Amino acid sequence: MAGALEGQVAFITGAGSGLGEAAARRLAADGAIIVVNDLDGGRAARVAESVGGLAFVFDVADAQAFDAAVDEAVRQLGRLDIMVNNAGVAPRDVSSKTDRQIKNTVLRAEGRIDEMVPMNHLIDLSDEEWDRMLRIHLHGAFHGCRAALRHMQPARRGRIVNISSVLGLQPSAGAPHYSVAKAGIIALTRAVASEVAALGINVNAICPGYIDTPLLTPFSEILRAAIVTRIGKGRMGRPEELAEMVRFLVGPESTYCTGDVFSVSGGYMG
Ligand SMILES: NC(=O)c1ccc[n+]([C@@H]2O[C@H](COP(=O)([O-])OP(=O)(O)OC[C@H]3O[C@@H](n4cnc5c(N)ncnc54)[C@H](O)[C@@H]3O)[C@@H](O)[C@H]2O)c1
Repeated sequence: MAGALEGQVAFITGAGSGLGEAAARRLAADGAIIVVNDLDGGRAARVAESVGGLAFVFDVADAQAFDAAVDEAVRQLGRLDIMVNNAGVAPRDVSSKTDRQIKNTVLRAEGRIDEMVPMNHLIDLSDEEWDRMLRIHLHGAFHGCRAALRHMQPARRGRIVNISSVLGLQPSAGAPHYSVAKAGIIALTRAVASEVAALGINVNAICPGYIDTPLLTPFSEILRAAIVTRIGKGRMGRPEELAEMVRFLVGPESTYCTGDVFSVSGGYMG
């Protein structure tokens, strides 16, 4: 029996690992032909081979490389139906201030606010790290939307899914650059969606909570445990659970969803 996405071409960035890989497998299972992007050539090749798709190795922050890859994929496969802008990185040094954070939490609970030590999350942020975060996430999503629309608009059909984060909805003091980049993706999604809604193209954003992928490798055990206490489900999500939302948003069940923002967070309380 033909799958719901039979013959459709899906371009997924950062699909060599985690959420992108799970989305690649999920869409391929429903018949989509997958174009796997990743910065890491080995990962891209492994996933592309296992889903029978193509691999394109480039940095999503590089607009020219993005355009060239999308154009080449369309040249080889004849169409582009789905773009998932997913590639991303975690903030650096995410666990280095956990001890200080825990001490401050205790002091706050005891009402000893005056004794709390400055966290210096913003002061310690370098220009390079700020730029890196915005270039990969926000510029990457912009490049992906633009490259995709150049093919989707003439065809008057298409689905774009941008991967934001719950931290784009509810910013984290610990990662202002990540939160800003992810909030920007939500604004980009809504702006683009309203422009192209009448052209048969749906653009939506997903805001994952904490999903157990290699992105969280730098998180210490104690930080992970602290995060889980703030998740209603009492555990992190699995990439496959997130991939179901991607599948919904690119499939025939979601024709009226556009400019919309969907959390998949297991009841994350922020
Ligand atoms: N895992 C989570 O808890 C979580 C939560 C919210 C949002 N997200 C977002 O989901 C997306 C996927 O994250 P993940 O958890 O699957 O991470 P991951 O590290 O497992 O996978 C990300 C992939 O993106 C690739 N990548 C990184 N920078 C790239 C670039 N500049 N160009 C091309 N590829 C690049 C990496 O090589 C990697 O294979 C990211 O945008 C992340 O911010 C993840």
